[in-house]
This record gives sequence, structure tokens and C-alpha cells, in this order.
Amino acid sequence: MTTGTGPAPALPQSVAVIGGGRMGAGIAQSFATAGAPVTVVEQSREAAEAVRGRIAGSLERAAGRGLIDAGPAEVLDRMAFADAVTGLDPATELVVEAVPEDAGLKARLLAAAERVVGEGTVLATNTSSLSVTELAAVLQRPARFLGMHFFNPVPASALIELVVAEDTDPSVVDRALAWTAALGKKDVVVKDSPGFASSRLGVALGLEAIRMVEEGVASAEAIDDAMRLGYKHPMGPLRLTDLVGLDVRLAIAEYLHATLGERFAPPRLLRDKVARGELGRSTGQGFHTWEKQR
Ligand code: NAI
Repeated sequence: MTTGTGPAPALPQSVAVIGGGRMGAGIAQSFATAGAPVTVVEQSREAAEAVRGRIAGSLERAAGRGLIDAGPAEVLDRMAFADAVTGLDPATELVVEAVPEDAGLKARLLAAAERVVGEGTVLATNTSSLSVTELAAVLQRPARFLGMHFFNPVPASALIELVVAEDTDPSVVDRALAWTAALGKKDVVVKDSPGFASSRLGVALGLEAIRMVEEGVASAEAIDDAMRLGYKHPMGPLRLTDLVGLDVRLAIAEYLHATLGERFAPPRLLRDKVARGELGRSTGQGFHTWEKQR
């Protein structure tokens, strides 16, 4: 709903994304493409520069396919790349944390970001399974914190799952709903609980598919085709596991196993593949073979 050349009214005035990996780079790219100024925070100068390069490449590909209106250079101009949360602008309206699925690391970075930003800033976590309420325990202002769970690949995905923790203020949910709409995405609002709605169901299906490969029920291709063609899923559960990353899926399964019980116990095959470095698309090998990513 852009009326002029500036950012659409419902977008945050400025965004910071902590962690520029698979998800963080996509989240940053999506906000910048929509018109918001975005700062990506990585753990070193080199890592920050590498994220800039990956986003530049992704923007070039999106422009080549006619998926973005602005030129890649114009979008990149809205972006800054930093190597520590201490450099964040206190006026940042939204901070999205997208570092690996490690509660201690997330808590440490969220608390550090909160010390820098102003009272009006909303803090969000992109965790795909961890308790948002437990993460909020390290914050001084838990009312300004919620889960904004994006999906992979972020620029192409249609959904953001908004996770409402015990202390999240309703006005913060309203702002997140407006930002979701400004990005052109749909929302689902869920109460904080292990795996929310999406990961809990998605991981259950993915783990069962892995157990079926383990038991020799069918090949990965056949299992994926069964769900794709038979159940109209846009992508089979094993291809999706490759896209998400087997390491990410294993971390989530371990958490759901601990919180929801035996039905989420990670299969041996998943652990073995992660130990061998077969992490999915990012390494070229998961349940399927992929062209190595640049
Ligand atoms: P990733 O491993 O690709 O990216 C994490 C990034 O965080 C890396 O670039 C790393 O350098 C950076 N990082 C680590 N420590 C840092 C620090 N101290 N300061 C700044 N940056 C730091 O992980 P991915 O896949 O992007 O996942 C991130 C989060 O998103 C996790 O919580 C994951 O569960 C969640 N998620 C992942 C999805 C997926 O499909 N991979 C889907 C939805 C959510």
C-alpha cells in the first residue's frame, strides 16, 4: 500500500535483524525490499560482509525474475551491516533475533539488544520451537516481546506465525499484525507452546517420513511424491527437511522430545546424517542431493 516513495505507513520505521543466516538474511531482505531501513547484525565483520554478498546475490536473482520492483542496488542502500548489537540505533522500531536455535545464545543477545534500544522498541524472536515465554524471562520489558516466526525462504513465503507469550502486550501483537500485512504476508496468531502450530505439525510429519526411510518403507523421492501428489503438499516432508536444514530440524526435534514427549524422539538416521555433515541443501546432501550453494 505504498503511496509515495518512502516506506509504506504500516512498515516499521527501522528494523534490526540479529543473525544473517538462512532466515535472518531473508527477513532483512524482505523488510528492505518492502521499503524499511534494515541493519543486519552478525558475529564478526567478515560474517557481516558475507551476508551483504549473499543478499546482493539473492536480490539480483529476484530482480532477474521480475519479483522486485526496486533495483537491487536501491534495496541494498537501505541496508547496513554491523558486527555487534551494541551499535544498534536506540530508535530501532523492531528487532528480530534470528541466531541459531540455542536458548542461551538467544537469551544473551536479546538481553543485550534490550539494553541498547529504547522503551518503544519491539523485540521479536524467530525461534521455530523454543518457549517465547521462557526467553522473555531475561528481559526487563517482556510486554514488548513476541515470536515472529518466518518461513523459509522468507522472501517467497506467504506466512508469519505470531507467537503470543504470557506477558506480550496486545498492542505489540497489533503492531506485528500490521507489519506482517505491510510485508504482504498472512498471519496466524498462536499461544506460546512448544513448536507453536507450524513446527509441531511439520516436525511430526518430517520425523515420521525419516523413520519410514530408516525402515525401508520407500525412498525419499517416493515419500515426498506421496505427500506432494497425493495430499497436494507443495513440497514433500523430506525435501522440506533438506531446505530447513537437518541440523535445525534435529535441534527442534530434541526440544519437542524434551517438552512434548516420546513421539518427537529424533530418529537415528537424522542424528547420523547431521553427524556426517549431511545438512541438506546448504551442504549439497541431505535426504536428496542438491547442487552445492554458492
Ligand atoms: P543459520 O545457522 O543459517 O543462521 C544463524 C546466523 O546467526 C548465522 O549467520 C550466524 O553467524 C549468526 N550468529 C550466531 N551467533 C551470533 C551472534 N552472537 N551475533 C550475531 N549473529 C550470530 O540459522 P537459521 O536457519 O537462519 O535459523 C535461525 C533461527 O531461525 C533459528 O532459531 C531457527 O530455529 C529459526 N528458523 C529456521 C528456519 C529454517 O528453515 N532454517 C525456519 C524458521 C525459523
